Amino acid sequence: MRILFAASEGLPFSKTGGLADVIEALPKALVAQGHELAVVLPRYRGIKTSMVVMPSMTIPLGGRLRFPSIADGTMLNGVRYFFVDDPGYFDRDGIYGNSTGDFPDNAERYSEFCRAVIEIAKHVWPADVIHCHDWQTALVPTLMRSLYSSDPLVKDIPVIFTIHNLGYQGQFPAAVLGRAGIPPEVYNPAGLEYYGDVNLLKGGLVYSDYLTTVSKKYAEEIQTLEFGFGLDGVVRSRRDHVVGILNGVDYSVWNPEKDRLIAATYSAKDLTGKHACKKELLEVFGLSPEYEARPVIGIVSRFADQKGFDLISDIARELMQEDIILTVLGTGERRYEELFETLANEFPGRVGVRIAYDNELAHKIEAGADMFLMPSRYEPCGLNQIYSLKYGTVPIVRATGGLDDTVESFDVQHGTGTGFKFEPYTGVALLDAVRLALHHFADERIWKRIQLNGMSKDFSWKRPATEYAKLYKTARLARNQILVATSN
Ligand code: ADP
Ligand code: GLC
Repeated sequence: MRILFAASEGLPFSKTGGLADVIEALPKALVAQGHELAVVLPRYRGIKTSMVVMPSMTIPLGGRLRFPSIADGTMLNGVRYFFVDDPGYFDRDGIYGNSTGDFPDNAERYSEFCRAVIEIAKHVWPADVIHCHDWQTALVPTLMRSLYSSDPLVKDIPVIFTIHNLGYQGQFPAAVLGRAGIPPEVYNPAGLEYYGDVNLLKGGLVYSDYLTTVSKKYAEEIQTLEFGFGLDGVVRSRRDHVVGILNGVDYSVWNPEKDRLIAATYSAKDLTGKHACKKELLEVFGLSPEYEARPVIGIVSRFADQKGFDLISDIARELMQEDIILTVLGTGERRYEELFETLANEFPGRVGVRIAYDNELAHKIEAGADMFLMPSRYEPCGLNQIYSLKYGTVPIVRATGGLDDTVESFDVQHGTGTGFKFEPYTGVALLDAVRLALHHFADERIWKRIQLNGMSKDFSWKRPATEYAKLYKTARLARNQILVATSN
């Protein structure tokens, strides 16, 4: 099958979060199963390309025309890359926004991108299926089933849409319709109208052949009021076409046996190297080596409400009364940056904080910490806790979405389980889970059991890639049936 991916970020070219990891690894895994893959990304600042495949593509945006070129980033890991190159839109400092907030023309930027994706499928790289990701690509299915619905070259292509996070919807005032070239026929309550606004994600949910999301639990959660961000009704109306497929992780990148970014490699057979990693982690954060025997809790995260930092804020001082060291890496909302900076000042030598985006340090924390904390309010999948499992760094997580699907509570009686989970969204429940983990940390034998249980788990991309391929096939069959039915 020829599968065309469309996404707003993807490694090794651009990344703000887990979406970029998925956009690199899933195509690679599909290629390994014999499929042909191409990925379309915006050409953001600094991305080098080799060749231009279309020097000027005409994209109508409202009353104007724009002329992006399509650059060919050649092949990487068997995957073909195309970049939509419009410097006015994409050659900026920042992907979705800068220090003053989101770019005000994001609707237009990603509308142009979506049109270009369809035109690539039409003129450059004919596809059997298009796989879109998150709100930035939601106009692909919307336009395919409206403006392009009688275009013989693309109308039969099924579109799969993956929700990586329902909390980000691309909602704009209705005035954006004209500017972004969105056809008025889709602006109604059954389309992408949302209480008088334009909701791009809603278009993705309504017009795609199939919706997927990144864990089974989250696929159910988004059909409820609590997790639906106002779109639970729309998701429910498509429940027969919603599929949960748990993300995998790329073990060629996140693997303590071959990781070149950590102080020493190690494996389940020999954990010795993990001590060197812990030592280095304390050093990097300027923490005293005498704390080496104490449990180190690591955090690597976007500082967003989603991630549960308000819970940490509620119980931070009680938490620090425990015999722990905290190493934190993240950027995002200022109040959470301040929370950790204040803690670092209050507990010098015991709390290490780096307000940054730093991939190498992320690896060092995964390897050097004893425990990894992810108390998310909601978590579609979450990748860090899965990395932690492989690094023998025991996850402490809130039982939601993918965190619940990937971490199994430790059961001391049977010696089973890979981490610690809590359910109520309260600081007390979080504290209890940390205390239970600390209790077991004190017994070296038990702790090693938990580490090894986690390290033996296999969350590689092989299984999810097979599930996606099956879904692509189902979507193609279903679309053929629709076509046969409408032509009769
Ligand atoms: P989300 O996509 O919601 O941010 P995930 O757990 O799916 O959460 O993915 C986060 C990804 O981003 C992981 O690969 C993680 O290592 C990385 N990451 C997050 N924050 C940072 C940071 N400050 N520095 C380096 N990597 C980070
Ligand atoms: C989103 C989610 C995260 C998920 C990632 C990749 O950013 O917040 O839970 O792991 O997408 O699917």
